[in-house]
Amino acid sequence: MSIIIKSDQEIAVMREAGRIVANVLDVLRSRVKPGMCTRELDVIAAEEVEKLGGKPSFKGYRGYPATVCVSVNDEIVHGIPGERVLNEGDIVSLDFGTIYQGFQGDAAITVGVGRISPEAERLLEATEGALRAGIAAARPKARLGDISAAIEDYAESRRYSVVREYTGHGIGQDMHEDPQVPNCTVTTFGVGPGTGPELVKGMTLALEPMLNIGGWATKRDNDGWTVRTRDGSLSAHFEDTIAITDGEPEVLTKL
Ligand code: MF3
Ligand code: CO
Repeated sequence: MSIIIKSDQEIAVMREAGRIVANVLDVLRSRVKPGMCTRELDVIAAEEVEKLGGKPSFKGYRGYPATVCVSVNDEIVHGIPGERVLNEGDIVSLDFGTIYQGFQGDAAITVGVGRISPEAERLLEATEGALRAGIAAARPKARLGDISAAIEDYAESRRYSVVREYTGHGIGQDMHEDPQVPNCTVTTFGVGPGTGPELVKGMTLALEPMLNIGGWATKRDNDGWTVRTRDGSLSAHFEDTIAITDGEPEVLTKL
């Protein structure tokens, strides 16, 4: 494993990449409406990122066919936008990445379509809260396992399960760099709080908890991409790209 430490200048570029990602997601959030099909969101994402001077990073990545991942209800991640029509009460995860001046930004939000159930609302709040808890743990001298433990504790204390097979990741010139950032701990294998590499200034990480109302197990559709909960329960996903600093972590994917 080799973790690439970024200079202040490189982080400045990643801040711009992150701002593009945040702006695109903000537009997508405002455009989600009952009755639209998910492909419309892909068209909007492509238009917006172009206006902002970024390039979509997902399209063509290992053959992924779209600009944004759109994952509805029991879909966890990597949903492919298409003909599916969004209905009032659905929850939809929007995951978007860009490359700008050679550096990557990656973030995700989950939003309700019109009015959603209190159960769905609580799931969204808890998933965003789990991301915030992970970010708060991402301080110099802490260990990578402290981030995973913070996310897991936050989720499990609210009785949600954390998806285990998909993780956050280092990010920089590549979308996926070392280290992987798990959203859970496996204390039997010594992965947990106080374990893993020490966090130091200049590390850039994408944290991306996925929480399910039911169990953590997943299955993948025949399209080769869409990942959903095995038990059909609702799932939510929030992601930010952050930089480790001397003090508070900096969220790069913000407006
Ligand atoms: N946020 C996701 C990730 O970090 C997005 C990748 S989608 C892909 O893995 F299509 F590009 F694979
Ligand atoms: Co990511």
